[in-house]
Amino acid sequence: MTSTYTLNNGVTLPALGLGVFQSAPEETAAAVETALELGYRHLDTAAAYGNERQVGEGLRNSGVPREDVVVETKVWATDYGYDETLHAFEKASRKLGLEQIDILILHQQAANLFDRTIAAYKALETLLADGKVRAIGVSNFDIPALTRLLDETSVVPALNQVELHPYHSQPELQAFHREHGILTQAWSPIGGITFYPGPWGDERRSVLDDDALGEIAAAHGKSVAQIALAWHLQQGRQVIPKSTNRGRIAENFDVFDITLSDAELATIDGLDTGSPSGPAPARDFDEKSLFPIPED
Ligand code: A2P
Repeated sequence: MTSTYTLNNGVTLPALGLGVFQSAPEETAAAVETALELGYRHLDTAAAYGNERQVGEGLRNSGVPREDVVVETKVWATDYGYDETLHAFEKASRKLGLEQIDILILHQQAANLFDRTIAAYKALETLLADGKVRAIGVSNFDIPALTRLLDETSVVPALNQVELHPYHSQPELQAFHREHGILTQAWSPIGGITFYPGPWGDERRSVLDDDALGEIAAAHGKSVAQIALAWHLQQGRQVIPKSTNRGRIAENFDVFDITLSDAELATIDGLDTGSPSGPAPARDFDEKSLFPIPED
């Protein structure tokens, strides 16, 4: 099983990184330090998570050389527009304490503001040309949004970070990515979004309680979370499982020796419900969604 992917511009990215969505700022630096100590070399954060500063702190505290780690962050839609997104890079760079950001992506398609989204992506292209970022991409883009982006801009996104776990595997979007050389990056890869408390409703079934996954896990002597991660990696997706718990950070990295059979992969593919558990990618962005991203 591969432990790194090469993006469409030649930059390499570890196949598995640490996610910090919903990691409380006060826990984030320690989680980052733990992950780097255990061998992780990719960190995924976002301006909207409010913990970029702590990601930078954890990276510095770890003693791992900066150049050995791929740091990815996201521009929030409030900062879309050409000049605004150039400025969003400055904010992120300052908070992370990094002059260069490895991967900078647009956090949402913001379908009702798509002209500003396109202008924001053009700013990412400028940052790439200027060497301020090493790769650019998007998150939560569906096929219509990607199609319009490809039509109106020059640089094919290196990746699209989308909700993807056994209950929502988005086969058509994955095929579109393959056709265009875009890496599929799975957020909530073990299905955290199917059990997080919050505004997502209580009707959800947790991926971690799935019987079919439980059987496969028992057969391999691994946990359901590890089986879900192996399923992604074997099918060529990049993953960013979130944890702030040392044992689970270690568990999620201990997956590279798992080989699932074709039948097991097909069983997991068959769990797709066709519906997201998280927010609809093409939803409108209103005043409430457009909260400000602080300068510092
Ligand atoms: P915690 O931070 O307490 O470990 P996802 O990245 O798929 O959204 O999943 C993240 C959620 O799953 C978090 O609630 C995280 O909580 C939990 N989690 C992370 N790793 C594991 C694991 N190996 N087993 C069970 N739960 C996990």
